[in-house]
Amino acid sequence: MKIITGNPGTGKHTITKLVSEKLGLDVIDINKVAIDQRLFKKKNGTLDVDVSKLKKIIDKKVSRDSILVGHLAPYVISSKNVERVVVLRKSPYKLQSIYKKRKYTTKKSLENLGSEILGITYYDAVHQFGKKKTVQIDTSTRTISSTAKKVESVFKKTKTSEDTVDWLQLVLKKGDMQKFFPY
Ligand SMILES: Nc1ncnc2c1ncn2[C@@H]1O[C@H](COP(=O)(O)OP(=O)(O)O)[C@@H](O)[C@H]1O
Ligand SMILES: [Mg+2]
Repeated sequence: MKIITGNPGTGKHTITKLVSEKLGLDVIDINKVAIDQRLFKKKNGTLDVDVSKLKKIIDKKVSRDSILVGHLAPYVISSKNVERVVVLRKSPYKLQSIYKKRKYTTKKSLENLGSEILGITYYDAVHQFGKKKTVQIDTSTRTISSTAKKVESVFKKTKTSEDTVDWLQLVLKKGDMQKFFPY
């Protein structure tokens, strides 16, 4: 099984579609499974997911030839059958405008931007799946097709090099800490 994860807006669905078609792999969308199985619960205006139930259901669904896609991947997949994990990254400055277009609330936007700046999804993926299997790719400096090519080569194991990402350094340099972490 292969995984594509990353914060909302980093390009997961765009890239998953291209790569799955190219490599002939099935796609399992974690959010869709959670919605179909009614595992989302409304809590203080946001949606919470029952992670332990989701984990059990996904374990049954995955096959060798599938790509699992979703920002929750590090929390709902056990590592045993995972071959490769791609974490898509995107500059917070680019993400910000995507969130504006998606009309995210300020709270949701700041939560996800903070997570991307600190690299939480990447950190959690490395923790869950191991450093060797996990490759981060910066989509900010790539076209969609070059990102897809890079992901394909990672899945085919012809390339394992990953990008260097340090959004914290970038935000500090621009003096924008207060803007992204106002509380
Ligand atoms: N190099 C890239 N790779 C993937 N998506 C990109 C890239 N550059 C720009 N995008 C854009 O990023 C936006 C978010 O992509 P999407 O697939 O919806 O993300 P996600 O599924 O992670 O929320 C889309 O408008 C997509 O076209
Ligand atoms: Mg998406």
